Amino acid sequence: MARIGVLTSGGDAPGMNAAIRASVRCGTAAGLSLYGIARGYAGLIDGDVFPLSNRAVGGIIERGGTMLRSARSQEFTTKTGQQKALATVREHSLDGLIVIGGNGSLRGAQWLSERGVPTVGIPASIDNDIPGSTMVIGVDSALNTVVESLDRIRDTAVAHERAFVVEVMGRESGYIALMGGLAGGAEVILLPEIPVSLKDVARNVQDGLTLGKRHSIIVVAEGFTPPDATLHSGSSAQTVCSYLETLGALEIRLTILGHLQRGGSPTAFDRILASRFGQAAIQAFIEKRTAIMLSYDGRDIVASPYSKLDEPCCNVNPEILKLADTVAH
Ligand code: F6P
Repeated sequence: MARIGVLTSGGDAPGMNAAIRASVRCGTAAGLSLYGIARGYAGLIDGDVFPLSNRAVGGIIERGGTMLRSARSQEFTTKTGQQKALATVREHSLDGLIVIGGNGSLRGAQWLSERGVPTVGIPASIDNDIPGSTMVIGVDSALNTVVESLDRIRDTAVAHERAFVVEVMGRESGYIALMGGLAGGAEVILLPEIPVSLKDVARNVQDGLTLGKRHSIIVVAEGFTPPDATLHSGSSAQTVCSYLETLGALEIRLTILGHLQRGGSPTAFDRILASRFGQAAIQAFIEKRTAIMLSYDGRDIVASPYSKLDEPCCNVNPEILKLADTVAH
């Protein structure tokens, strides 16, 4: 009976639990034995491996976070750590691993597969920056959290006639900022991928005032960098805030949504996507199709080689930014 390990690694994403649950239950139904590995690659290094029964994954589909816990393991980037991880796979006679996580975690799965450990990667990251997938686990839930937050902020922004600078996650990916901004009716959306000067941000807010808008919501992704940022210091959202304050046109407030975007009960979309990924991962092991990462193409779950990770990810569409700008005023 094949023994398959499951781990979650990197930034957690709502829906990871649903993927663990589906992997375990589809695996058990197919006659496989499933094992959990705690804290991602850190647990693989430490030999933290335990059996996962169908009952052990009960009552988790509706929970955010990950029952297996997660980590960004520095040790797994070292030779010693990597050797220990391979030793754990041998000691526990694991015939394969399901790795649930973002780009870095999937790179880890690729590394293991290149050393003879059969792996299947399931993409999960609220950043939606994994090549090949239109959506990955956690994105829809995080987006809904952002939109709900923006709705609440708008209430108070309108009441006090203020501008709010709202920082959302995404150091390198502006997907959450773009889609959250569109769905939340933001007046300005600032992304890491598309530089906009502070002057242009101010002009945009000013245009809104001229059109009779007495409030404004400016969504800033963590990784946005204004080309004229040397004028100010601090995070980009703080920089935008300070710059707008100096203009004196509107009272400005700053809200940093931070890690609350990563928590909470997964949406129906994420639960369904994660369940489908779990099932597809088990199917891949049954058919002996390993050294692959799974993706969602907008309709089906498909598989690609890990070399897909070398390709650029193109989920941030400038046309959607134009749309958001047009419908905001
Ligand atoms: O990759 C997911 C993500 O939430 C990014 O959006 C964010 O920049 C980063 O993780 C934060 O990482 P940490 O939780 O380690 O601070």
